[in-house]
Amino acid sequence: MNNIAIIGLGYVGLPLSLQFARSGAKVLGLDIDPSKIEHCNSGRTYIRHIESESIAEQVNTGPFSASTDFSRVREVDAIIICVPTPLNKNREPDISYILKTGESVAPHLRRGILVVLESTTYPGTTDEELREVLERGSGLKAGTDFHLAFSPEREDPGNPKSQVGEIPKVVGGLTPACLEKAVALYGRAIKTIVPVSSCRAAEATKLLENIFRGVNIALVNELKLVYAAMGIDVWEVIHAAKTKPFGFMPFYPGPGLGGHCIPIDPFYLTWKAREYGQSTRFIELAGEINTAMPEHVVHRVGEALNAGRKPINGSRILLLGLSYKADVDDMRESPTFILLDLLKKRGAEVAYHDPHITVIRPTREHGHWTGTKSVEWTEKSIRSYDAVLISTAHKIVNYQELADWSDCIIDTRNAMAAVRTRPNTVWKA
Ligand SMILES: NC(=O)c1ccc[n+]([C@@H]2O[C@H](COP(=O)([O-])OP(=O)(O)OC[C@H]3O[C@@H](n4cnc5c(N)ncnc54)[C@H](O)[C@@H]3O)[C@@H](O)[C@H]2O)c1
Repeated sequence: MNNIAIIGLGYVGLPLSLQFARSGAKVLGLDIDPSKIEHCNSGRTYIRHIESESIAEQVNTGPFSASTDFSRVREVDAIIICVPTPLNKNREPDISYILKTGESVAPHLRRGILVVLESTTYPGTTDEELREVLERGSGLKAGTDFHLAFSPEREDPGNPKSQVGEIPKVVGGLTPACLEKAVALYGRAIKTIVPVSSCRAAEATKLLENIFRGVNIALVNELKLVYAAMGIDVWEVIHAAKTKPFGFMPFYPGPGLGGHCIPIDPFYLTWKAREYGQSTRFIELAGEINTAMPEHVVHRVGEALNAGRKPINGSRILLLGLSYKADVDDMRESPTFILLDLLKKRGAEVAYHDPHITVIRPTREHGHWTGTKSVEWTEKSIRSYDAVLISTAHKIVNYQELADWSDCIIDTRNAMAAVRTRPNTVWKA
């Protein structure tokens, strides 16, 4: 398996393509977005934490190229699918991107090829829905004529220590032969492979990982409110608790869930569980607590402004950090959008600053903010706001300058903890 096609050159597909190319495989990246193809082929990045040089290196040495021509999967031994799996308007799983990809490649499948799905999804997607589309379009039978597998991606964007090749990879196949093929494929680029008994077990593993995080974040978000009412700082408590060398893992509160995983993936399972007459109360409760966080933060903004005899209505409020997590430029599902909306609805004049997102690109849910520009980081600019709300704590931001320039800071990330602040200027939220 020396020729590999990777479909969907986003946050998952691009680093994976580069990792396979580094292992010596010939990698064909496929995407429906021509601008990504153009960027790749000219060795230019479009994802902040992936350097242009690492793309250029693989393009110039030959193993990596990109195209929009899906019929070229005829050239490869294995296809890996990394396309989006969002929720639709009714917050139900939308696997249409997977199915469309299946339809595009099916007519070009040849005997012996391996198809692996990596997109996060509910158990059954690979061996029911994707399998059916591939079989219908190719006239071939999965498990007999071609191999089919699922292997969830584990990306940690923004963590410089996280290397694709070092993160153990879970793999499940439709048949033992499918599994063997998939293990061999990933084994060439990834150090540790964790085989499981089926595609469903692999799909369920990814969901467990993300549900675990969603539920634990909800727990600390709830404790944040309970402890605050008791005059206890939840951040101090978490830092103390995490010194326990066993049986504890720290999770941190925040202004609400963000990103394309934690706010979405748990509901893939919730939806599928209904088909089996199963309820998912932990997931629903965690969702409820986490989605209530932006309202809580807005309430704290109101309290902070009120202390200075100002209402939200008419105040100038700057949101600091637009991406959903620190040190990345990914703004998908960011709670900052919800905070911007809620504050604007209450009459505030809102703006944002994010050193990694200079202008808001089009998004499905928050199109009305498209084109809004990050305000500049200068003393004059920061002083012109009645309040600054820290929603994402990028390391690159100078929080000491913020402490010196702003009289009203609402901190949802404990970013001001290590900074010299003046009394009554910082409000934890
Ligand atoms: N980003 C992460 O950290 C992460 C981590 C683990 C799992 N995942 C999962 O991996 C999957 C991909 O996520 P992502 O963050 O890379 O998404 P992304 O939006 O960054 O990238 C998806 C890419 O697929 C392309 N695409 C869309 N429809 C297509 C089609 N029909 N054919 C070919 N290409 C198509 C898009 O143009 C885009 O380039 C999702 O299921 C996500 O839940 C993401």
